[in-house]
Amino acid sequence: MSATADVCVVIPAAGLGERLGLAQPKAFVGVNNWSLLSLTIKRVLEIQRVGHLIIAVPADFKNEALDHIDRAMRESNKKIPVDVVAGGITRTESVKNSLLALDQLDSYVLVHDAARPFVPAEVFNSVINKLDQGVKVVVPVIPVSDTIKTVNEKDEVINTLDRSQLKAVQTPQGFARDVLSEIYATSNLKPTTDDAGLAEIAGINVSTINGSVESFKITTPFDLEMATSFMNRKQNGK
Ligand code: CTP
Ligand code: MG
Repeated sequence: MSATADVCVVIPAAGLGERLGLAQPKAFVGVNNWSLLSLTIKRVLEIQRVGHLIIAVPADFKNEALDHIDRAMRESNKKIPVDVVAGGITRTESVKNSLLALDQLDSYVLVHDAARPFVPAEVFNSVINKLDQGVKVVVPVIPVSDTIKTVNEKDEVINTLDRSQLKAVQTPQGFARDVLSEIYATSNLKPTTDDAGLAEIAGINVSTINGSVESFKITTPFDLEMATSFMNRKQNGK
């Protein structure tokens, strides 16, 4: 493993959190007095290979974001270069804007949602190990526990999908830097809900590693309650 800090982490944090329904954008919502953004940054700073952060936030939250970044870095006792950029209307646009801040030193880019603050460090390291093996795109996945059916616009079931072939996809999604830049450079960029979706459209192979239930995405008020109890349980060493 290379000793250089050649991994850049892009954190899309520019969503409004409509399903959460609070006054601030979701990344600025607090759990036990820490915003999702600062919790996510603290976790990312634990990863040795990470030497650069690019964070996309709503345009009018750039200054506020700097405070959250400072606080996370002080708490972690680690300072690395950070670029704060204005996000776009869709997650895809926010990531595209972020990639303009990439540096020549960034060999790999890991895109990780601010909305998944409890991702274990091992998941980051597994993604990086896979990229070290020469894989160009890698995503963390977990098995799906519910039965998944497709349903039509009349709310009627069309069919049941074969669960053994289904996986739920998480972040951080890892890319060789040039591959990520290329898939986002296309002129008719299609908004996708994850980054690897663009690699699939471009016909690039996407590998998987084991994700974690702890990487759950905070989307609804119930998820925020879960986040609070999860954090309290961890703080009590359980
Ligand atoms: N995101 C972003 N820019 C957008 C939309 C989303 O950077 N225009 C980010 C969010 O901040 C979040 C991640 O992408 O960290 C995953 O998106 P999601 O969970 O859908 O968050 P929101 O879009 O904020 O939530 P909602 O869809 O409920 O409005
Ligand atoms: Mg969204």
